[in-house]
Amino acid sequence: MKILVCDGLHDAGVALFQAVEGFAVDMPDQLSAEEIKAILPDYDAMIVRSRTRVSDDLLANSRNLKVIGRAGTGVDNIDVQTASTRGILVMNTPGANAMAAAEHTIALMLGLARHIPQATQSLREGRWEKKRFMGTELYQQTLGVIGLGKIGAIVADRAIGMKMDVLGYDPYISPEAAAILGVEWVPLEELLARSDFITVHTPLTPETRHVLNRENLARTKPGVRIINCARGGLIDETALHEYLLKGHVAGAALDVFEKEPPQGSPLLELENVIFTPHLGASSYQAQANVARAIASQMVDYLQYGIIRNAVNFPSMRRRDYEKIRPFLILAEKLGRLQGQLCSPINRLEIEYNGPAFEDVPLEPLTQTTIKGMLDPILAEKVNLVNAHLLLKERQIELITATTSEKRGYTGLITVRVRGQTGELSAAGTVFPGDEMRLVWLNDYRLESELEGINLLVNNWDKPGTIGLIGTTLGSYNVNIANMHLARTPEKDKAIAIIRLDNEAPQEALNILQNHPNIIFVQQVWL
Ligand code: NAD
Ligand code: MLT
Repeated sequence: MKILVCDGLHDAGVALFQAVEGFAVDMPDQLSAEEIKAILPDYDAMIVRSRTRVSDDLLANSRNLKVIGRAGTGVDNIDVQTASTRGILVMNTPGANAMAAAEHTIALMLGLARHIPQATQSLREGRWEKKRFMGTELYQQTLGVIGLGKIGAIVADRAIGMKMDVLGYDPYISPEAAAILGVEWVPLEELLARSDFITVHTPLTPETRHVLNRENLARTKPGVRIINCARGGLIDETALHEYLLKGHVAGAALDVFEKEPPQGSPLLELENVIFTPHLGASSYQAQANVARAIASQMVDYLQYGIIRNAVNFPSMRRRDYEKIRPFLILAEKLGRLQGQLCSPINRLEIEYNGPAFEDVPLEPLTQTTIKGMLDPILAEKVNLVNAHLLLKERQIELITATTSEKRGYTGLITVRVRGQTGELSAAGTVFPGDEMRLVWLNDYRLESELEGINLLVNNWDKPGTIGLIGTTLGSYNVNIANMHLARTPEKDKAIAIIRLDNEAPQEALNILQNHPNIIFVQQVWL
């Protein structure tokens, strides 16, 4: 597995990759988008921080890319939609740098309140300006926190420790949950009107873009100070500049910008604004944390298929994965069988039966079935990430159900498909020792392995048919490895699933298909 690290990675993460056999990490120095695009086809995975923009164009030629790791929180520099369509998993490391970003926010708030950067600069230039840098205390001042997630909550906690009154606005957090943090939940307008300091800690989404726009800045208390250690774009920088010039906003501390670096921004010229170059997560501890987290998540995914912290796929706990692991393979095989037997398909029904499917996430099994079904049909790469999207594109209706009636199996997966040629149902189970078996094909009771090249022959149950199949295949040098037979209760029709050592040529299949005893014959690859 080849991993491309674009914006640097702490040694702790590199070491984790290097400890796994077959994993190789390349960490070139600051590549341009064009350079990344040129080498990306060679890589199975890539890791970025906030510098690299993973755009639609960059991903255009990412034929081997399976996963993009964001060593940090925000994924707004990644075109997640395009990644999903291309079947690329996108994962981040939520919380791994939260402490660093929260402490940086507090540092910015204190630096802003006491003019520390400006005073440092003045002293460096040989001046001793005590009056010029009169500050304000935080004690008993009101802090408004917009976004009470991981970072917002830590910021609130530290501010409460400094005896500030903390107001919080977050439409996805209840007033009761805010109260547990010691925060008074208020509507946004009230937060704007009552706060001496305002700090933003939401992701950048269409809903939060310019949450501090001209209109909302006008609602703030005169003399308010504003901190942004979350994402450029949460504040309308033009409006902020205007309100700083007017003196309505007394000061601002910015770690992030609408355009990074913010060269040419008029904000850089204002005396009452302090800056850091997107340093929120830049602590040794945070960088080691995110590197370890992203590397172990990516190894888990690339080696074992375990998905954690993906933004375009539901996560799975290791213990759930262990429980459903054998069924994941079964689901893919059943999907693969049906995709080849019945095409085009317009409806897919998956039924999970038995105690094996209690208290485990079934979605990965569904996705794996879809993957198995579409894989042999589509030229493009089908995987768990884009399975649903591709199913929808092909207008295949999906129905999933869990049933509890006793059928004698620990876990039975039935995959029913409906297409132009009718309906076909295949059910499989996993016996102890991870022995996977196809146990039903429509009304035929079987116990057939789901492996390798198989010939499915449906025939009228007349003497000599099996002999005919054997002789025909033999005459084309096709060896039979094993065979499973079943008959309808009426004993009129039979089915044979014949495992072949090598592929049967079309001519042999035509001979069988044209024989009056044979209803249908098809070769499938499982
Ligand atoms: P989080 O997902 O834990 O919290 C985000 C919170 O925002 C959630 O509670 C959510 O309910 C809330 N929210 C969403 N929409 C909202 C809205 N319209 N109004 C108010 N609240 C809303 O994320 P986090 O880990 O706390 O990160 C917060 C921000 O900090 C993100 O933008 C992240 O990218 C950024 N970040 C920056 C740095 C840095 O280096 N400066 C480091 C880490 C994280
Ligand atoms: C983040 O979202 O985690 C931050 O922007 C930190 C970073 O990657 O520099």
